Amino acid sequence: MDIDLNDKEFGLFQRLIYNESGINLTPAKKELLKSRLMKRLRERSLSSFKEYYQYVTEENTTGEELVSMLDCVSTNLTEFFRESAHFDFLSEKGLPILLESKRKNREKKIRTWCAGCSTGEEPYTISMVLAEHTEQLSGWDIKILATDLSTRVLKKAMDGVYAKDRLRGIPLHMLNTYFKKGDGNLNDHYQIKDYLRETIMFRRLNLTDETFPFKGQFDFIFCRNVMIYFDKQTQAELVAKFYKHLAPDGYLFIGHSESLAGTDTRFRYVRPTIYQK
Ligand SMILES: C[S@@+](CC[C@H](N)C(=O)[O-])C[C@H]1O[C@@H](n2cnc3c(N)ncnc32)[C@H](O)[C@@H]1O
Repeated sequence: MDIDLNDKEFGLFQRLIYNESGINLTPAKKELLKSRLMKRLRERSLSSFKEYYQYVTEENTTGEELVSMLDCVSTNLTEFFRESAHFDFLSEKGLPILLESKRKNREKKIRTWCAGCSTGEEPYTISMVLAEHTEQLSGWDIKILATDLSTRVLKKAMDGVYAKDRLRGIPLHMLNTYFKKGDGNLNDHYQIKDYLRETIMFRRLNLTDETFPFKGQFDFIFCRNVMIYFDKQTQAELVAKFYKHLAPDGYLFIGHSESLAGTDTRFRYVRPTIYQK
């Protein structure tokens, strides 16, 4: 059944999604939005976008439908070791420099925030890279906070189970060290080992919230391929919040097609897509 999404309805959803998530859908995204929202209409047995808009904004008072709508609107593309130059930098420069300065200060704690973590490939990649420094890091308190807007991707991330063809980017020795093969009907899947999974805390967090509930500061913030969906103002506000929540000398990594050029920020440019407080 083809249901029409007219321009007025598109405008209503566009504003709602922007206000709730910062995701900035241009008119070119109308067909994409329509096909994604169709799933929700079917789920709710509704026959028009007008009814669905009313349902999500007025009738569903628990807010659950809003969460489900945002789940299906967001793009969650990700992979292990995506944009791998960041992990080379982390391993060869960022981490050694940080370890040295922390040792001097007699501090043995490393905090990383993966903002917009999708189905978990990115925080697990970070945890593997940190684990590769195991000897140097023994006795250290290492934690990664991984957040996303979508509850659907967070659930998958928490399971840490991936089909074999999703593991392509992982160097073989890391695959053998940090994953266990599934059995039974999961024998073509691999699961990240518990001791790595336990270093990561997954939480739902909306990056457009005015404030974030963090007590301490982070040494590394990864927010890659997320700001691309936001407009300039939302990006600038988020970058200012990242600055506040990074420790002095901490690093911010953004996606390869993103840049802070033209954003009023105190970050120091390190190299393309890597910035330092
Ligand atoms: C394309 S994925 C990027 C995943 C990963 N960072 C990477 O680079 O591979 C973008 C993620 O940002 C999340 N996202 C979009 N808007 C968000 C918001 N306002 N707050 C938190 N996460 C958001 C989406 O749910 C999605 O999982």
